[in-house]
Amino acid sequence: MSEPSWADGLSRPPLVYIIDDDPGMRETVTEILALAGVTAEGFGSGKSVQTALEGARPDLALIDQRLPDTTGLALAVSLKAQDPDMGVVLLTGYASTDNAIAAVGLADDFLTKPVLPEDLVRNVMTGIDRTRLRRQNRHLVARLKEMNSSLEATVAERTRELEEAHKLALQDHAAREQLQAQAERERLENRLHQSRRLESLGMLAGGVAHDFNNLLGIIINCAGFVAEAMADDEPVRADVGEIIKAAEQAAQLTRQLLIFGRRDPVQLKALDLNVVVADVQGLLARSIGEHVQLVVHPSAGLPPVHADRSQIEAVLVNLAVNARDAMPGGGTLTIKLGVTRLEHEDTSLLPPLSRGRYVTVSVSDTGAGMSPDVVARIFEPFFTTKPQGQGSGLGLATVHGIVTAAGGGLSVQSEPGAGTTFLAFFPVAEELASDDAATAVTPDGGGRGETILVVEDEPALLRVVTRILQRNDYAVLAATNGTEALALAADHEFDLLLTDAVMPGISGFELADRVRQTRPQSSVLFMSGYSPDLAGAGRGLPVDTALVQKPFTQRALLEAVRAAIATPRGVPEPRSPSEDQRPANQPG
Ligand SMILES: Nc1ncnc2c1ncn2[C@@H]1O[C@H](COP(=O)(O)OP(=O)(O)OP(=O)(O)O)[C@@H](O)[C@H]1O
Ligand SMILES: [Mg+2]
Repeated sequence: MSEPSWADGLSRPPLVYIIDDDPGMRETVTEILALAGVTAEGFGSGKSVQTALEGARPDLALIDQRLPDTTGLALAVSLKAQDPDMGVVLLTGYASTDNAIAAVGLADDFLTKPVLPEDLVRNVMTGIDRTRLRRQNRHLVARLKEMNSSLEATVAERTRELEEAHKLALQDHAAREQLQAQAERERLENRLHQSRRLESLGMLAGGVAHDFNNLLGIIINCAGFVAEAMADDEPVRADVGEIIKAAEQAAQLTRQLLIFGRRDPVQLKALDLNVVVADVQGLLARSIGEHVQLVVHPSAGLPPVHADRSQIEAVLVNLAVNARDAMPGGGTLTIKLGVTRLEHEDTSLLPPLSRGRYVTVSVSDTGAGMSPDVVARIFEPFFTTKPQGQGSGLGLATVHGIVTAAGGGLSVQSEPGAGTTFLAFFPVAEELASDDAATAVTPDGGGRGETILVVEDEPALLRVVTRILQRNDYAVLAATNGTEALALAADHEFDLLLTDAVMPGISGFELADRVRQTRPQSSVLFMSGYSPDLAGAGRGLPVDTALVQKPFTQRALLEAVRAAIATPRGVPEPRSPSEDQRPANQPG
């Protein structure tokens, strides 16, 4: 018979117990089985076999029906109780139906004496096989059960691990999302805070600058009158010159403050920034000096933007000069133009920009860079890290005001030691207007007796303007407010309405509209410092608006007046209601 090596206890050679009180019988059977290769051990009583069973595990018990201490059937039952798989074959002295019936269910088989050797061997071999099959089967079932329960345990353990991992991943993800959301919120809040801070600083600066403007206009012009009235060798003439120079410097500072506060009158025109950069390149190269290399990358086919040309130049100069200061040992200043599309609102920009197409101007240097603390404050007016007297801290405040006035925004990238990149975004203009020539001024000094209706609510400034005009061969109708002006306009002919843009009561714009209702051909020139009453971000004046910016010099005023009179007024265009919501960067 085959000996399975995989089942415990089955690899041993087969063992048969013979329980018979007849020693001859025991000996004969043992010999017959030995010939068939089966080891047999003989026992004379039930008790002796019980003792032997404690240390052995026979495959088969051949039990004589008659034993000294028990019956074959009783022993069979007892042995089966101890080892249900063990084969039990009953040996009976005679074949009877009773014996057979009694053996069924208690023994596996029975043999009738005298037993033929071949019957004995066949019966024993079959019994051994059956025992071994049963034992194998039990073993397999046990292993299967064991495997099954360990599989179940493994699955349960694995499931638990997976659930745990999933839970942790979810928690981790949620925590990360929360952190990200928090960081984003803080970033936005900071940005908003920065924007608001700049906005309120702008309002403050703009308000102060407005009052200064009128005063400076008076100082500059009255000092001019004084100088003119003096003989060349008058000793105080030099002092008057100093007064004028200082007032003009003050006007320059005021101008920067107005730009920062977006109160500076701007005339937005469609500009090709490639052209502006190319035109200003020479000036930039001179400003940065020879130790800094200037590299310009224009962008072919750049769409136009709406901006004030001189202001864009100021942006470039300011950024270039800052870059130069950051590269005392030399380096490279790179200006690069491009166009980009923002697919979503970009809140990382200052101020945030809505989606759309933008022309970008990037100005990078290889200089000292800035710490995050410095970056956070650079657009504030008067913030400077430069030594006393070397920087006013108005450069970038001006840049911010200009870019914002053009509807754009800025970003800065900088790290100490790693240089700085300023990136300015300008919204793409819908259509290109080529009206540079229209505003060209051909100054020819004074007037030819034309009459000018002058409206200005600041009496001292009204007097100065009147004086300048009268001295230069203009006739003046003077009014200190819109009502007075309308009354004068009803009764007098005049060639130009020269009006302050922002006045109590009727504003300059409203006055111009009302005058044009009766005199459609009237030329109008606005005097403007800023427009404190008009809120919101905006795009500037219509390109056909003539204006002279406060504080103005005599020459600037005369040039503007001359140009306004020389430009004939076309068909009247009553102002639409939307134009009345004039944005903040427009003049007043
Ligand atoms: N390209 C740059 N590299 C390093 N730091 C810069 C750069 N641009 C600006 N800064 C820092 O930002 C500060 C503010 O710049 P801003 O142009 O407003 O004022 P300023 O240059 O100090 O003075 P002003 O321009 O009025 O003469 C500078 O003092 C400097 O610390
Ligand atoms: Mg500067």
